[in-house]
Amino acid sequence: MSRPVQVAILGATGAVGTELLDLLASRQFPLSHLKLLASPRSAGTTLTFKGEALPVEAVTASAFQGVDIVLASAGGSTSKQWAKAITEAGAVMIDNSSAFRMEPTVPLVVPEINPQAAAQHQGIIANPNCTTILLGVAVYPLHQRQPIRRLVVSTYQSASGAGARAIAEVKQQSQVILAGQTPTAEVLPYPLAFNLFPHNSPITENHYCEEEMKMVHETRKIFGDSDLRLTATCVRVPVLRAHSEAVNLEFDQPFAVETAREILAQAPGVKLVEDWQANYFPMPLDATGQDEVLVGRIRQDISHACGLELWLCGDQIRKGAALNAVQIAELLLEKDWLRP
Ligand code: A2P
Repeated sequence: MSRPVQVAILGATGAVGTELLDLLASRQFPLSHLKLLASPRSAGTTLTFKGEALPVEAVTASAFQGVDIVLASAGGSTSKQWAKAITEAGAVMIDNSSAFRMEPTVPLVVPEINPQAAAQHQGIIANPNCTTILLGVAVYPLHQRQPIRRLVVSTYQSASGAGARAIAEVKQQSQVILAGQTPTAEVLPYPLAFNLFPHNSPITENHYCEEEMKMVHETRKIFGDSDLRLTATCVRVPVLRAHSEAVNLEFDQPFAVETAREILAQAPGVKLVEDWQANYFPMPLDATGQDEVLVGRIRQDISHACGLELWLCGDQIRKGAALNAVQIAELLLEKDWLRP
């Protein structure tokens, strides 16, 4: 890898931010300096990096001077607020929020799928939505073999997608319920413990929620296939940090299950988890903390000769967010694409 670079994490105290810290340490990312930025609420606190306590600073425009890469994970409005200061300081912003994903000049990158898109950046690279990343890693290798004509996906999304406070809220609600009391909800709109509900993102004009439409638009952009037909139903489930997805794929020609299995067994970022005898398949608890997207239950769709069914689980905070962002940063260094 190239020379060590200066990295800032914007949103360092959040669920994704703390995972970014862990990944930069465990992957031996070549750092000359690491800056931790968050809201003024966190200024003066510290976070541990490689056994050392690093100070958390309140974000200001001057904080980006000298920084090469900003890993932003502090929500869309914070990303929008600081994007100009970041790019004017000469840093590349790898943004986890949805703020810039569909901007034509902003590459939307999953390194296993479209790494070359990152070369086109003009200072901002967007990290896709978590469910979109997990889905893309699992189905793009099949799409390369035979174009997917239609994709139907149902998601089972963990609390982590709504941040560290949502994870804490589900734990707290569980205790309240087990104590025989009625839980309340502040972070998510309804109690999630022992419950589930359609994804809490705003409903759009066509009655899909924003999360579902993100899956449609982002998958098309990442795959470079504006005609891809995709429909999604996104649901929040009382799982702490890994998302699951039931996926139905339709092709022009029959796609042999064995071929799909062979392709996925070798696909980058995928781990095949299938024990039909034991009825053991990907589970969110097994996916937690893992880099790979776990894929299994690959089977012929009995309702369509050219259809396949599969099931996947992936760590929403890791490959669904922090890991993908760090992989993009590694790609920029490896290819020398830091400067547009
Ligand atoms: P803070 O802890 O100071 O509020 P999560 O997604 O887990 O909820 O985390 C959100 C992250 O974004 C946290 O690090 C949070 O910092 C940070 N954040 C939220 N609002 C702002 C803001 N206005 N400016 C900077 N950082 C922010």
